Amino acid sequence: MKTKLSVNLNKVALIRNGRGGNIPDLIKFAKDCESYGADGITVHPRPDQRHVRYDDLGQLKEVVKTELNIEGYPSANFMKEVLSVKPHQCTLVPDPPGVLTSDSGWDIEGQRQLLSDVLSSLRSADIRTSLFIDPDPDQVIAAKEVGADRVELYTGQYANNYFRDKHEAIQNHIVCSNKAVELGIAVNAGHDLNLDNLRFYSDSLSSLSEVSIGHALISDSLYFGIANVISMYKALLA
Ligand code: PXP
Repeated sequence: MKTKLSVNLNKVALIRNGRGGNIPDLIKFAKDCESYGADGITVHPRPDQRHVRYDDLGQLKEVVKTELNIEGYPSANFMKEVLSVKPHQCTLVPDPPGVLTSDSGWDIEGQRQLLSDVLSSLRSADIRTSLFIDPDPDQVIAAKEVGADRVELYTGQYANNYFRDKHEAIQNHIVCSNKAVELGIAVNAGHDLNLDNLRFYSDSLSSLSEVSIGHALISDSLYFGIANVISMYKALLA
């Protein structure tokens, strides 16, 4: 199975929000990314709306022809928006409100009731669900138990340690992906993936349905242009 590339557009929204107008046009950018080969679009509306805003979500759902993935902490407000927009996938992250970026996964056991409840309302709305977790096989087992369709493995530590010892850095991700295959749960991955570390990551895992990449991909596009960059990332997943 080929790994899908979902392009995270938070950084595009951040630039737009910096001036208060509509440059760059986030909605057009999403459509263009798809036309250049992106398999999905990911956005992460944060409580302070510094990235994609809640009022972007409906427009994105209208134009995205591949898959829209909305990430976030399942606050009452977030859940209201997601259930009304109905993206193809919702990735739940445990971020506290002021966090700079999502840098750790759920302790599923400690949040079992909350997660079971929100996963069940997302499932009732026909929204595929994913839980952002650290690469720990116990969390994969717990994700299956609370009813998630997928896990998204946090790749920040993998990326940090890649140049020191990539074989060691990937080890727990391989274990998690094997465990997920055994349990019949799909695996996504994301955070700090880039042109250096992506191919080794996707080649090493027995199952990897999707990667979502934002920061490096949008930064690379400053040098190479977004159309070229999407092709460069997709070539690493081929
Ligand atoms: N996955 C999650 C849950 C995230 O919060 C982010 C960042 O918004 C990403 C993936 C993408 O990470 P990066 O921007 O480093 O590619």
